[in-house]
Amino acid sequence: MSPQAGDLFTVDGLEVEVRFRGGHRVKAVDGVSLRVGEGETLALVGESGSGKSLIALGAVDLLPPGAEVVAGRTAFQGRVLQDLEAPDWRRLVGMGIGVLFQDALGSWDPIEMIGPQSGEVLEAHETLGAEEVRRRVLDALGRVRLPRRLKYASYAHQLSRGQAQRAMLAAALLSLPRLLIADEPLSGLDVTVGRAVLSLIDDLRRERGMGLLLVTHDLGVVAGVADRVAVVYGGVVVEEAPVAALFRAPRHPYTDGLLGSVPALARGRLRPIPGDPPGLGELPHGCPFAPRCAHAVAGCRQERPCLRPVGDSQVACGRAEDLALPGTGA
Ligand SMILES: Nc1ncnc2c1ncn2[C@@H]1O[C@H](COP(=O)(O)OP(=O)(O)OP(=O)(O)O)[C@@H](O)[C@H]1O
Ligand code: SF4
Ligand SMILES: [Mg+2]
Repeated sequence: MSPQAGDLFTVDGLEVEVRFRGGHRVKAVDGVSLRVGEGETLALVGESGSGKSLIALGAVDLLPPGAEVVAGRTAFQGRVLQDLEAPDWRRLVGMGIGVLFQDALGSWDPIEMIGPQSGEVLEAHETLGAEEVRRRVLDALGRVRLPRRLKYASYAHQLSRGQAQRAMLAAALLSLPRLLIADEPLSGLDVTVGRAVLSLIDDLRRERGMGLLLVTHDLGVVAGVADRVAVVYGGVVVEEAPVAALFRAPRHPYTDGLLGSVPALARGRLRPIPGDPPGLGELPHGCPFAPRCAHAVAGCRQERPCLRPVGDSQVACGRAEDLALPGTGA
């Protein structure tokens, strides 16, 4: 994917392998390219296990043990992360890119209080006095609607999952990042707090031109905040499109299946996707979606379709022009 004017963050040809016991390795992300512009929100959607977190974290080299980037280039504000020495990488990712991990509770150090732990990123990269760091942390905790002083002095085990999630958002926003990578930021939050957190993120995007790479299961959230959507299946992007086009006229049968599985979007005609997502290392020959696709023909099983432009979308389906998929009808 060649960088375009206004690109803040580009990922090109990302491949991630995961390791099993005994050293057996399997490709879990295969050739994913993405871009996020200044002030833009790109949503990554797909069923559980499709590879969304590996893509989001692999792009900034923050994968958990057992997973490894084996190919790909990531550029942030014109600088290629893979070319940077470790201290420059830490500064760029620590200050320029905020990351909100899916496992919020497990991401905190259990033996250090939340407040001082949050402030470490500022202490490492900015010459701020201890009092100013503390003030900024308290302010950030307040913005995510946590009781500031109480939570500043809490340990991770004293927080609920939703509180840990919000504290992590506060920490991720402390350095005023230009890009926020948020992996399921609303999981564990009730509807009211979830809405408040989402609108905080969206306000920051608007006010500061922050880019947002949003990983979520929730297509309602996607409809409300995303500019573009990348749909992930079996570790590859099978469709990418502006949000309105994707909901109105999905081009890939998997995208249509995701929309048809959500009661609020299917408008009384629930159309769940048959079968299960493929297991790791079990992608079929040809189109990975073929075993579950109502539109599959023999040719679909011969060659894996690549992303190509069809209408407003980039789509990896050999039959995209022939299909009139219902989408949400919106
Ligand atoms: N550290 C790891 N070691 C081994 N396998 C992993 C590791 N992380 C993820 N996987 C596997 O890679 C695949 C993709 O995982 P990933 O976490 O990216 O899915 P996801 O789309 O984020 O799912 P969810 O919506 O449930 O968060 C899954 O089959 C998962 O079991
Ligand atoms: S290529 Fe064939 S099997 Fe794959 S999504 Fe398109 S129609 Fe379905
Ligand atoms: Mg995930």
